[in-house]
Amino acid sequence: MYTMTNDYDDDAIVNPSANPHFDTLLAARLSRRQALGGMGGAATGALLGALALPGCGGSDGAADDATPAPAPAAPRLGFAPVAKTLADRITAPEGYQVSILHALGDPMHWGDASWQDDGSETPESYERRIGCGHDGMYFFGLSDDGRFDAGRSDRGLLCVNHEYVVAPYGLHPAGRTVTDGKRPAAEVDKEILAHGASVVEVRRKAGGADMEMVRGSPYNRRVTSATPMDFGGPAAGHAKLVSKLSPDGRRAFGMNNNCACGYTPWGTYLTCEENYLNVIGRAAGDDARRSAAEIVALKRYGLPEGRKNPYGWDTPEGEPYQRWNSRVSAASAAEDYRHIFNSFGWVVEIDPFRPGSTPVKRSALGRFNHEGAWPAPAVAGQPIVIYSGDDARNEYVFKYVSDALWDPADVNGGSAAGAKYLDRGTLYVARFNDDGTGEWLELAHGKGGLDASCPLYPFADQGDVLMHCRLAADWRGATKMDRPEWGGVNPRNGEVYMTMTNNAKRTADTLNAANPRVGNKNGHIVRWREIGGQAGTMFQWDVYLFGARADGKQSENLSGLTDDNDFSSPDGLYFDQRTAPGGAGLLWIQTDDGAYTDVTNCMMLAALPGQVGDGAAVTTREGQATRKGADATADSVRRFLVGPVDCEITGVVVTPDGKTLFVNVQHPGEDKGDFTTNTFTSHWPGNQAPASDSAHHGHKRPRSATVVITRRDGGPIAL
Ligand code: FEO
Ligand code: CA
Ligand code: CA
Repeated sequence: MYTMTNDYDDDAIVNPSANPHFDTLLAARLSRRQALGGMGGAATGALLGALALPGCGGSDGAADDATPAPAPAAPRLGFAPVAKTLADRITAPEGYQVSILHALGDPMHWGDASWQDDGSETPESYERRIGCGHDGMYFFGLSDDGRFDAGRSDRGLLCVNHEYVVAPYGLHPAGRTVTDGKRPAAEVDKEILAHGASVVEVRRKAGGADMEMVRGSPYNRRVTSATPMDFGGPAAGHAKLVSKLSPDGRRAFGMNNNCACGYTPWGTYLTCEENYLNVIGRAAGDDARRSAAEIVALKRYGLPEGRKNPYGWDTPEGEPYQRWNSRVSAASAAEDYRHIFNSFGWVVEIDPFRPGSTPVKRSALGRFNHEGAWPAPAVAGQPIVIYSGDDARNEYVFKYVSDALWDPADVNGGSAAGAKYLDRGTLYVARFNDDGTGEWLELAHGKGGLDASCPLYPFADQGDVLMHCRLAADWRGATKMDRPEWGGVNPRNGEVYMTMTNNAKRTADTLNAANPRVGNKNGHIVRWREIGGQAGTMFQWDVYLFGARADGKQSENLSGLTDDNDFSSPDGLYFDQRTAPGGAGLLWIQTDDGAYTDVTNCMMLAALPGQVGDGAAVTTREGQATRKGADATADSVRRFLVGPVDCEITGVVVTPDGKTLFVNVQHPGEDKGDFTTNTFTSHWPGNQAPASDSAHHGHKRPRSATVVITRRDGGPIAL
């Protein structure tokens, strides 16, 4: 009998590779020496000195010509830190107020009833309702004539990812059900439409910086796990994307488990498919119908034969549900869904300003558990650079560099601009050397052994390299990381930050300087400074902060965290993009934790980071030498907010004027509940919304939601 399995197990390790590959290492070392030979003396000395990074807030000379100019004077944190708490509410600093913008099931248009708190909403109504599992998010200013206005704060389009259908599954009458091994079609239909993303128009309320959703706006839109999409880039039309739904391999149907996000300077939203293994199964015995190469690829991406679909979306009777099982069932790929698995794991571009536009999966950015896609600030005449992490244990960090050079005339260019900048470029994967240097390894067919003769996997062409870039990265000798989650580029100096949320399975024999703790339960944040500009192929790195309990062992608390700023499992990360004076360079850090939740719910901190090299060499208690950033201080890192019970805080964006902060709360009350009495471990947001907020007030079922945080005096957030 089919039993409901747990959702996709991100404890699983599907990277069996023995990186770094010796030949590749040798070649890389040679190329590094060659590269160093061509560099200025100061930089060369820094690179060759093991763990001897210089303080590098300034420029090293001509090699840094593409690094954004330093911003004006550094901001100062201007709020009192919030104490750790287990309270079932959003706790914000004194002087701040919290309102609910939208929550699971809220109607975006007129004609649908508001949330009933009993799971009675119809599946099809989720085409017009806010989805579940709020996650990555971005605010695009909206001009009076309906165009992207990067400077506008009082009116905008808010794009929010709906990552997955979260426990206790309050969108159904009595949670998820399974009967005789099968999910009810109505539940599956509702889940398919509750996934994806939402676009809603938001505007300021009268008399302050608080904002509300504009119900019925023509911009309001859902993109779901059933929305037709196109493929762009080298994998479009690939034989391994052919299916019964897409005989030419150029179409996709739906996006899944969209976690974090990104945005483009031309005004489109990037939304990234992460744990899509949640919705795909593969029949037992399928290997006998597959080539050896296919079996290698399917296993490397976590889909061995006989793996059940965790959500059971392939269990209802009928043709529409067959596509959730990636198995050979007919004579040709155009007659079945054998390749449907390959249609997930991409970055999807959505043009929020054209509600009828078709989303495009941009294959040039690669396929993996795409956490997000974080752009460096665009510079006219320079390539578009986008960073990504593959959030699974022992997976990799990637960087995309466009062929086309940024032309500000492309603002508002929609999908055409997307094709120009995102369909042709170079994908790299990171190697973090133990000496504090790093290299970007190109993933290009025909280079570095990535061709049909590769012993690991026979890469047929560039589309194949991108579709299976985990295997390409294995071969190139990338560094296995502790679950790369969100990233961001510091607008003050171009340095890149990325959270390594945790890795309980990091073992002593796989330690490296960038992942230096065994059984890393509290996570850390790696940062790097590109050499030779944002598109360069070498970098210097250190560990900005180590997560730890302030009351824990000193040997664990390597960054000197205190009760006012200690955290565990950093996940969401966002450099404030406000253009108002003093805001640039403010860093927001969010947690998705299970290791410190005996003391506090998940949280968000505000930080003012320095730069790579501002700390010291350190050796972890396991004996791994590494380089940490300057210790946290009361002035540099403060807890800004604590979320409700059993939630994850994920997704944050600030309006350009810095006065409105949007934050997402995912899976409050992530546990079983009693649907007969509507009793759960959390009753948020119904227990925090005031009576004047009738769409949320008093409801018992916990719901993921977007909150709006403003200062009571209307001033800038956090400063
Ligand atoms: Fe959906 Fe890696 O968090
Ligand atoms: Ca995440
Ligand atoms: Ca996480």
